[in-house]
Amino acid sequence: MSSQPETGLPNPSHVAIIMDGNGRWAKMRGLPRQEGHRRGLEALRRTVRNAADLGLSVLTLYSFSTENWRRPHAEVSFLMGLLKHFVEKDLSELAAANVRVRIIGNREDLPADLRRLVEHAETRTTGNTGLILAIAFNYGARDEILRAARRLAAEVAAGRLDPAAIDEAALSSRLDTHDLPDPELVIRTSGESRISNFLLWQSAYAEFVFTPVLWPDFDRAAFEDALAQYRQRERRFGGLAAVPARNADVA
Ligand code: FPP
Repeated sequence: MSSQPETGLPNPSHVAIIMDGNGRWAKMRGLPRQEGHRRGLEALRRTVRNAADLGLSVLTLYSFSTENWRRPHAEVSFLMGLLKHFVEKDLSELAAANVRVRIIGNREDLPADLRRLVEHAETRTTGNTGLILAIAFNYGARDEILRAARRLAAEVAAGRLDPAAIDEAALSSRLDTHDLPDPELVIRTSGESRISNFLLWQSAYAEFVFTPVLWPDFDRAAFEDALAQYRQRERRFGGLAAVPARNADVA
């Protein structure tokens, strides 16, 4: 935990997490990578409970990227199975906890049964008013932006949209996250300091916290530490820092 003073920022309402380090966690213990992912799913469940408990409005988790297809077939199938298992096993509990599930990413390439399942998870929880849990699955920010650009182009070609009317709001409203606020905080675990094609548009003004904790070990203390780091940041959105009161007196 840092000894920096807090700047008075409230906790973020939307936190997005790049869950990284499952493989290394397993390797350090001489276990198969799959065991790391299994323990990663436990960390995911724990983090959803903590996010709701900490009063966040939205939690977005990066669980399978458009680039993850390059992994060995067995690992890809295992991760697909893990999402299926999670939705099948946890949906009732999430629904009862008033969580609204959203899945972001490209659904076209998913196996039909998985696609139906994620649609069911969204429909079943659509009226819930508590934490929004957005799972990024087969997600890549460039792919998301390209799909939004294609939608805009199709509307222009059909004569329904004036190119001059394409502004930030028009593009945002065609992204997978059209109904979600931008994240104020993006956390990446495992000591890597990369964005890896995650929420490139939406994180334009996000704060980033990179923690050495491997994802399966990400617990309440690590979560609270990341939030505390966020509260120490000064967010300026391209503007100037607020003038400290003692200087304002002499300015
Ligand atoms: C990164 O660790 C993690 C992933 C690519 C998958 C994330 C999956 C989970 C947290 C489990 C829950 C899954 C679903 C689908 C709900 P890595 O394998 O890249 O780790 P390494 O960099 O140490 O090898």
